Amino acid sequence: MKLDFAPMEGITGRDFREVHGACFPGVDRYRLPFLSPAADHHLTPRQRRDLEPGALGLSRLLPQVLTKDPADFLWAASALAELGYTQADLNLGCPSGTVVGKGKGSGLLRDPAALDRFLETIFTAAPIPVSVKTRIGLEDPAEWESLLPVLARYPIRELTVHPRTRRELYKGGVHFDAFLEAAKLLPFPLYYNGNLFTPADVQGLETVCPGLAGAVIGRGLLADPALVTRCRGGSRDREALIAFHEELAERYLTYMHPDGAVLPKFKELWMYLALLLPDEKAWKRLRKCAKWAEFHPLALGLLRDSEFLPEADFSRLNQQSVNCLTTESV
Ligand SMILES: Cc1cc2nc3c(=O)[nH]c(=O)nc-3n(C[C@H](O)[C@H](O)[C@H](O)COP(=O)(O)O)c2cc1C
Repeated sequence: MKLDFAPMEGITGRDFREVHGACFPGVDRYRLPFLSPAADHHLTPRQRRDLEPGALGLSRLLPQVLTKDPADFLWAASALAELGYTQADLNLGCPSGTVVGKGKGSGLLRDPAALDRFLETIFTAAPIPVSVKTRIGLEDPAEWESLLPVLARYPIRELTVHPRTRRELYKGGVHFDAFLEAAKLLPFPLYYNGNLFTPADVQGLETVCPGLAGAVIGRGLLADPALVTRCRGGSRDREALIAFHEELAERYLTYMHPDGAVLPKFKELWMYLALLLPDEKAWKRLRKCAKWAEFHPLALGLLRDSEFLPEADFSRLNQQSVNCLTTESV
C-alpha cells in the first residue's frame, strides 16, 4: 500500500516537503497544497516556486487544484502539464468557510447535478489524467449515496476519500462504512485519508482493506515525522528529528521574517509535534513565546532532551480525535 503525505495548505510547502523527504525516508508521494487559479490565468512567482519539482522530483509530487470553474481547472491542468506533471488532483474536500461559501472545495458537493456537469467538462478536456480528493458530503453522511453514482461516471485516475462531511471538519471519528462502500462500488484505485496516527492504524487499515491503493496521512506525520518511516520498518531517530527541525528553520529564515512568519509556521507545526512529548505543558510554554529567538532554543531543547511517547497523543488536540478503525463501524 502506498503512503502519501497529505496536502496541508500553509504547512507542507516546498521547503517542508524537501526537508522532510531528506530526513525521513518512506513517503511515496508528497501531495501539494491546493493551487487556487487566479482569474487572469497566471501562476504567481510563489505558486511557481512551490510547483518546481526540486529535490523530490516530479514523480513523487501530486499537485492539486481548488476551483469551481471548469475553465480555471483546465487552465491549471495545462499549466501543470507544461511543468511536467502527469496528474492533477481536484479538491472536493476543503471545509474552510470562505472556500465553501464560494462553492469551491467541499462546496462543490452541495449539488450532485452541478458537480456532474463540472466533472463532465473537465474529464472531457483535461490534458492530463485527473484524480479527486473528496469528503462524503456537506452536511450529512447520507449525501454520499447521491455522490457515489456521480463519481462512478468518470475515469478518475485515483480517488482519495476523507470520510467526513464538511460540517464535521476534522473532528471526531470518521464514517469508515462510507469509505468501505466506496471501495465496494467504485472501480478506481482508492486512497483512504483520516485519523491515521500510528503504524498500528496503518496496519489495521491494510488488514481491513487489503486491495487499497494507498493511504494519505496528514496530522499523524506532523506529530511524528517518522510515522511512515516506522510503517516501513524504520525507527524514530532523534537526530533525524533535530536535523528536520533545524534545516527547515534555516530554509525559512533565508526568506521569511523570524518573528512575523517563521514563528507562526513553527508554532503550527509544534501544535502537532508537541503531542509526542510526555510533558503536556511544553506546548503551552512554546505557544507563549513572542519571539523566534525565545522559541527556537526552547523547541530545540525539547527535541534534544525529552523522552518521546511511543505514539503521539492525539487526545490532547482537543478535538475528540478518535481512531476510525477501533471505534467506528469496522
Ligand atoms: C492546516 C491544514 C491544511 C490543509 N490543506 C489541504 C489542502 O491544501 N488540500 C487538501 O486536499 N486537504 C488539505 N487538508 C486536509 C488534509 O489533507 C487531510 O485530509 C486532513 O488533515 C485529514 O487527514 P489526517 O487525519 O491524516 O490529518 C488540510 C488540513 C489541515 C489541517
